[in-house]
Amino acid sequence: MDPLARGKTLGILGGGQLGRLIAEAAKELGYRTAALDSSRSSPALQVVDIPIVGAVDDELAALRLAEASDLLTLEWELIPVKVLETAAKARTLFPAPSVLAVIRDRLTQRNFLARHGFPQTPYGEATTAAGWKYPVILKRRTHGYDGKGQCRLLSEADRPNAAEVLKAPCVWEKLVDFKTEISVILARGRDGKTAVYPVAENTHRGGILHATRAPAPLPRDVEAAAVALAIKIADALGHVGVMAVEMFLLHDESLLVNEIAPRVHNSGHYTLGGCAVSQFEQHVRAVCGLRLGDPGLLEGQAAMVNLLGDLWEKGEPKWSVLDAIPGAKLHLYGKSDPRPGRKMGHYTIVGAAANTEFARADERLEALRG
Ligand SMILES: Nc1ncnc2c1ncn2[C@@H]1O[C@H](COP(=O)(O)OP(=O)(O)O)[C@@H](O)[C@H]1O
Ligand SMILES: [Mg+2]
Repeated sequence: MDPLARGKTLGILGGGQLGRLIAEAAKELGYRTAALDSSRSSPALQVVDIPIVGAVDDELAALRLAEASDLLTLEWELIPVKVLETAAKARTLFPAPSVLAVIRDRLTQRNFLARHGFPQTPYGEATTAAGWKYPVILKRRTHGYDGKGQCRLLSEADRPNAAEVLKAPCVWEKLVDFKTEISVILARGRDGKTAVYPVAENTHRGGILHATRAPAPLPRDVEAAAVALAIKIADALGHVGVMAVEMFLLHDESLLVNEIAPRVHNSGHYTLGGCAVSQFEQHVRAVCGLRLGDPGLLEGQAAMVNLLGDLWEKGEPKWSVLDAIPGAKLHLYGKSDPRPGRKMGHYTIVGAAANTEFARADERLEALRG
């Protein structure tokens, strides 16, 4: 299959900030862009050449996107597989629907990891008679993100708290006592070649990504093990495009896979400005069949801090705080409704100041809040 020729149209299923940043990278590479989302004012629909308004779980809407495009990709893994299959019949879609079929349900994802012997926490299907051992975390099998659709139970006494989450099918996972959370972002091309970004360290607040720094300060062998694990997972899935593997680093320096995202990932936003080729350009390169670019850091280090809607509580954040930091780069996603917990944007710092920024992200957010 030939690479997608410049001037052709890349269509994106989903219109959030990830789609917007993919579209911007695609345009820079000389492609036209289309995206499908239910709202004309969604982040991606604001910037693509061909905005298509329709529900992302609607087969006819997906077909309209396909007809407007020469090649398809996605920014959201929760699109129903049937819709993806319909779209993929009309136009080539990367990643393939078969990859999404494994990932979109946490149980099939965990079973896939188990089948291949990849390290993970003990888990099971959480039925009402489930035999989990405390402490445990229950997670909705589908449609959970940013810590939503999850519930932690430290003992049997907490069980009533789980009633709401258990209204939909869940998995249980033994709660992991980890030292830190890391993620490996990689791109896998149509030819199976991979390009791996420096391993990132992540902190979360309330289940939502808070800050990322790269490279994570890891012993060489741990870093190599994380990279090797992520590549094996991408190969086993036959993935094409960018993929993120979230992992827990335990106190004994062993690694457990937390979850796989078959798409560009929030913890890879530092690559935009931080690396020679961002995860967004790399994704476009991979799905379009172009040669993968250089994932190396430009200035040795980079950090990213998420800006959630909470920051708008008292009105517009004090952007002058960021303007005063040399090299800080603000990215806003064009969302007009800053609800708490909603990802409104992020900022990055590249170079020597990145580690301090990562450590002091909370203070900086306080200052931004005014
Ligand atoms: N088994 C676990 N043990 C300990 N912490 C966990 C576990 N699973 C998830 N978490 C915490 O919750 C966060 C969100 O969970 P995750 O499974 O990554 O779902 P989401 O799709 O919302 O990102 C993780 O980044 C981690 O901090
Ligand atoms: Mg996660």
